[in-house]
Amino acid sequence: MKSALLLKEVNKAKEVLPESVIRYIEDCASRKNPNSHLISVLHKVQDHFGYLAKEHMDAVSILMQIPSAKVTGVASFYHFFNFAPRGKHRVSLCMGTACFVKGAGKVLDKLKDHLGIDVGQTTEDRLFSIDVARCVGACALAPVMIVDEKVYAGVKPDQVAKILTEYGFEPRKAKK
Ligand code: FES
Repeated sequence: MKSALLLKEVNKAKEVLPESVIRYIEDCASRKNPNSHLISVLHKVQDHFGYLAKEHMDAVSILMQIPSAKVTGVASFYHFFNFAPRGKHRVSLCMGTACFVKGAGKVLDKLKDHLGIDVGQTTEDRLFSIDVARCVGACALAPVMIVDEKVYAGVKPDQVAKILTEYGFEPRKAKK
């Protein structure tokens, strides 16, 4: 009875995750210490969906036979996992010491103001999400803002709207 229930759960979990992740989990299960691959499994899930939803983590928990609290705990511990859908364009502001000293805080305030969201959130139209980063290794260019892969150097608060328009931001939508 118990195994029939487990089989049902496993099949349900397999419907949630993509085939490539299921195969990867099966491959990990055949290795030594399969649970040690949890983080790389979560990365693959996030690469596919763009974030980790509760149902994704529950499916990983069932397929890897790891308690769901542990899966959630591990995912929450690392800053590189997201738990909500991300925007088409990811705007990341460096808040390392050099950038902070050169005014990154004010740039971030302006960014939040224009987009109407906080760090870690995504705009309603799913166009932008905001992240902060620690030093990205370009201190001479502080303050540094990165949109997707493009680096913007020496960003001033009044340049933020112009940069965002390159990615479809409409200034008239900006909050006063
Ligand atoms: S502190 Fe921002 S790049 Fe180093």
